[in-house]
Amino acid sequence: MLETATPSPASALPLPEIYARVERHIPAFEWPILADDIGEILRLKRQRNAVVLAHNYQTPDIFHTVADIVGDSLALAREAARTDADVIVLAGVHFMAETAKLLNPGKTVLIPDLEAGCSLAASITAADIRLMRERHPGVPVVSYVNTSAEVKAESDICCTSANAKKIVEGLGAPRVIMLPDEYLARNTAAQTKVEIIAWKGHCEVHERFTAEDVRSVRESHPGIVVLAHPECPPDVIAECDFTGSTAAMADYVGKQRPARVVLLTECSMSDNVALQYPELEFVRPCNLCPHMKRITLPKIRRALETMSHEVTVDPEIAVRARRAVERMMAFG
Ligand code: 13P
Ligand code: SF4
Repeated sequence: MLETATPSPASALPLPEIYARVERHIPAFEWPILADDIGEILRLKRQRNAVVLAHNYQTPDIFHTVADIVGDSLALAREAARTDADVIVLAGVHFMAETAKLLNPGKTVLIPDLEAGCSLAASITAADIRLMRERHPGVPVVSYVNTSAEVKAESDICCTSANAKKIVEGLGAPRVIMLPDEYLARNTAAQTKVEIIAWKGHCEVHERFTAEDVRSVRESHPGIVVLAHPECPPDVIAECDFTGSTAAMADYVGKQRPARVVLLTECSMSDNVALQYPELEFVRPCNLCPHMKRITLPKIRRALETMSHEVTVDPEIAVRARRAVERMMAFG
């Protein structure tokens, strides 16, 4: 199973019970300040008929308190497509909010900070794709969802880290262009006979992990199970025990319950999963995503108070970008 979007019951609980979920992470003296924002966000969500969709990299004070749905990019896209709320607050990065808008254009989609970008999305433009097509005529283009709507609009289909192999193979072509993440492309190529032409984009968080990191954590923590996101370099993936999307990693921990584990991915992911499994030892040589960290409780509160920042997509681009995302969703 590669996605685990679960409605978070936390946001339906009274504040003391919500605190019980995060008390091992948030000291009691900090709680009153957070509780003020959390209480107000819960009230505003009811008033606006809004849902908060939170990515697995959001901090525990968001992830375990005000989120209605949590998950990886694919799961958040699915939930955005089917929600009947009037307003979607995307606690994640801009491409996730754009994808939500593409899939459910009648809803108001808000992002609490417009600057919450992504190094992968910033690494490629629509003009770059047109150039790739000229160089490789007839070769289908698979774009990672970590791209702008303009880039999606130039693509045949999208993929996420949860379904990359399935999408690449499902096209039935001997060669595909897969962009912009070079490492996701190379890690996918290692699992398939389809020839993959990659781009040189990297995730600024995952590119920093090294194979030496894996060896040294194994040496200092005997018996540790190493999980890594497929945006990590291939030599890191070669040394780890399991690779998968953020949801797949959480799912692995839930099912396998490794006594000692490290997640080579963004820091908050370990914080969130560790709160769910207090009996497991999490080693945390993580890297922070500065874009994900732009989203905070006060900014979510402000987004709901002021109904900003609204995410819109040019209608002509939206039609073509939606086709690429919906084609991916149809793969199941
Ligand atoms: P997931 O789709 O695995 O959640 O990954 C999104 C992302 O931005 C990872 O860096
Ligand atoms: Fe983008 Fe990497 Fe941040 Fe994910 S972790 S949003 S891929 S910069």
